[in-house]
Amino acid sequence: MKNVLLFLTLFTLSAASFGQGNNYAQNYKKFEGLAQTPPMGWNSWNKFACNVDEKLIREIADAMVSSGMKDAGYTYINIDDCWHGDRDSLGFIHPDPRRFPSGMKALADYIHSKGLKMGIYSDAGSQTCGGRPGSRGYEFQDAQQYAKWGIDYLKYDWCNTEGLKAEGAYKTITAALRKAGRPVVLSICEWGNDKPWEWGPEVGHLWRTTGDIYNCFDCVKDHGTWKSFGVMQILDKQEGLRQYAGPGQWNDPDMLEVGNGMPVHEDRAHFSMWAMIAAPLIAGNDLRNMSKETLAILTHKEAIAINQDKLGIQGFRYAKKDSVETWLKPLDNGKWAVCFLNRSNTPQKVNFDWKNTPISDELSKRELNAAKTTYKIRDVWARKAQGNTKKAYAATVPRHDAILLVLSE
Ligand code: GLA
Repeated sequence: MKNVLLFLTLFTLSAASFGQGNNYAQNYKKFEGLAQTPPMGWNSWNKFACNVDEKLIREIADAMVSSGMKDAGYTYINIDDCWHGDRDSLGFIHPDPRRFPSGMKALADYIHSKGLKMGIYSDAGSQTCGGRPGSRGYEFQDAQQYAKWGIDYLKYDWCNTEGLKAEGAYKTITAALRKAGRPVVLSICEWGNDKPWEWGPEVGHLWRTTGDIYNCFDCVKDHGTWKSFGVMQILDKQEGLRQYAGPGQWNDPDMLEVGNGMPVHEDRAHFSMWAMIAAPLIAGNDLRNMSKETLAILTHKEAIAINQDKLGIQGFRYAKKDSVETWLKPLDNGKWAVCFLNRSNTPQKVNFDWKNTPISDELSKRELNAAKTTYKIRDVWARKAQGNTKKAYAATVPRHDAILLVLSE
């Protein structure tokens, strides 16, 4: 009997050290339970590029609260590229002491004291896109440092990654974040090169589907060795990806350009479409200094509710006629969001005969059948009721603008 016990003890001990659950196992899976709806926040890149410092970030956090953006649901204050200073002799990263003299912990404490969360940026390669120190080879140290500072969100870029494979590189940073122990939203930023929608849902919470957005409605900006894309070009690149989106895992068509110079109607169309495709809503403008039109778009509760719907179903393009696209998004409680997007340069009439246009969405197994059910129609931007689906819906959509409706039973 004694021998049997001894054997069992030894067996259990060796199984514990060599089998599953040992100290050598790494966890390559993202933190669960985060980003159950598309993340909402602000990021420095679109407006400020490399001109970031602690004064700006504090003022943005203040403005996030005082403008009403926080109340509308925006939570993350994300510093993009160029915050970095040097690594110390042990390899730990520090912020640029001239730009962030009080350090990142003090900044995170400040942001947290406002009820907000803090995001930071790094890169899977040797250097970031802006030439600052990347995380390659320092992943676990960087994750430790971010956890010490109190970072809640990491955007992880893909410049200078020669010889690396995306899935493996992103798994390494995920394992590092898991080891550090502080729950972090991981934003995969490899521009859709290696189909991150296929492996990203396990590893991160959102993944860029395209190259960078450019602040125009309908153009491509050629920078020589790379290109960036207008709102319509980015939208077209989302084709075929909606089945990958859902609570905790989002296609990311890049950050918002609302308030960065496009006319109000184009900003409204941009925001409408980002709402329809369940995109992360990461504002990219100067929150300290917004027009009331910009603020009205960014904080429109009903438009945000479409984006934040708890089912997390990404909308789809249902029809396209004379440059007017009809987009649909199933919502909770049998509701539907409908968007008429006019991509042309002239106003366009729409006429939608609900009763004779039964719609069924294969992916979500949801139906919009106005012959069976009469829906009430709400015009979101106009904030008013527009009758019901017994009658065809007729309206004119101004150029480069969108009409956004919510149908409910
Ligand atoms: C890449 C990313 C951008 C931004 C810059 C920073 O281009 O796609 O979103 O983070 O790098 O250098």
